[in-house]
Amino acid sequence: MDKIILTGDRPTGRLHIGHYVGSLKRRVALQNSGEYKQVFIMIADAQALTDNIENPEKVRQNIIEVALDYLSCGLDPAKSTLLIQSQIPELCELTFYYMDLVTVSRLQRNPTVKAEIQMRNFEASIPVGFFTYPISQAADITAFKATTVPVGDDQLPMIEQTREIVRKFNQIYEPVLVEPEALLPENAACMRLPGIDGKAKMSKSLGNCIYLSDTADEVRAKIMTMYTDPLHLQVSDPGHLENNTVFTYLDAFCTDAHFERYLPEYANLDELKAHYTRGGLGDVKVKRFLVNVMQEELEPIRKRRAEFEKEIPAVYEILKKGSETARQTAAQTLAQVKSAMKINYFDDSELIGAQSDKYAAKQ
Ligand code: TRP
Repeated sequence: MDKIILTGDRPTGRLHIGHYVGSLKRRVALQNSGEYKQVFIMIADAQALTDNIENPEKVRQNIIEVALDYLSCGLDPAKSTLLIQSQIPELCELTFYYMDLVTVSRLQRNPTVKAEIQMRNFEASIPVGFFTYPISQAADITAFKATTVPVGDDQLPMIEQTREIVRKFNQIYEPVLVEPEALLPENAACMRLPGIDGKAKMSKSLGNCIYLSDTADEVRAKIMTMYTDPLHLQVSDPGHLENNTVFTYLDAFCTDAHFERYLPEYANLDELKAHYTRGGLGDVKVKRFLVNVMQEELEPIRKRRAEFEKEIPAVYEILKKGSETARQTAAQTLAQVKSAMKINYFDDSELIGAQSDKYAAKQ
């Protein structure tokens, strides 16, 4: 079977380096691997609206930010289809039919949705659209017959829900839908990059993100204030690596080649870590190294972004074209779904013929 990728992001803000190591960098590698017949990257605006219904302008403004972040990371419209979820009405139809295959109690058990309900103080009154977004996400994935969904581990419950819907649909009707698999980041540090303050997650509301669109000066300043080991007061003190954000970032970003270029006294990260834990290595030196590593990674992204920022109408055009292409695929799947569900009356000449015969026999 041909391998097809679908993944996406909610357009609620600029993308940060947590998105980058957790997903974007991998997508670009997958796109360029030649192993996938098609790659669909979705800006999930309709999903973003499920908990931003009073904030449509925020979603609208962030479409272009996310698109610029995609393009600057190397997602290439010649190889990947970039689309906007709301422009594919077929996804709503699929969602509506899949709703028959999912129970309320099953949705209530979704741990990601549970956590989000708490975070947004939705306990007292949960919008139905928000509560059911895992079903709409199943439509996103299955509409394109995606086999592979590169995501962070917080999205695993959505993939599991999708797989259940697919199995149920295929069993009741016809085997039209494809059961997708999640593709998680390979490296634990990439799975969930902490914020620069050491908090478990990078988030806009906590103000602890490094954005892909930050300038070199902003990146440097943020790294120099980064949370390290609060017990490491003097250079000579032994340092601790657990929850030490600078080292977590190095785990996610640095390679032996970076040592050759910027810190040749050490062969690799293990040697640096050993010195730090032994004592005698100051935070500032490690942070300066991390600045070099990060700038090397982010500089080409910033350069590409600057180029695309000069061509905003062309970026919208890329999204329009991508959405049109994606819509054709989604329409084919929807036609198969409707036929399997026996709601394709007008293109079913057998049905019309059989009904005619039935009533002809009566006369
Ligand atoms: N739920 C994802 C997020 O919050 C965004 C998303 C929407 C998505 N549809 C998707 C991810 C389909 C993967 C596949 O980031």
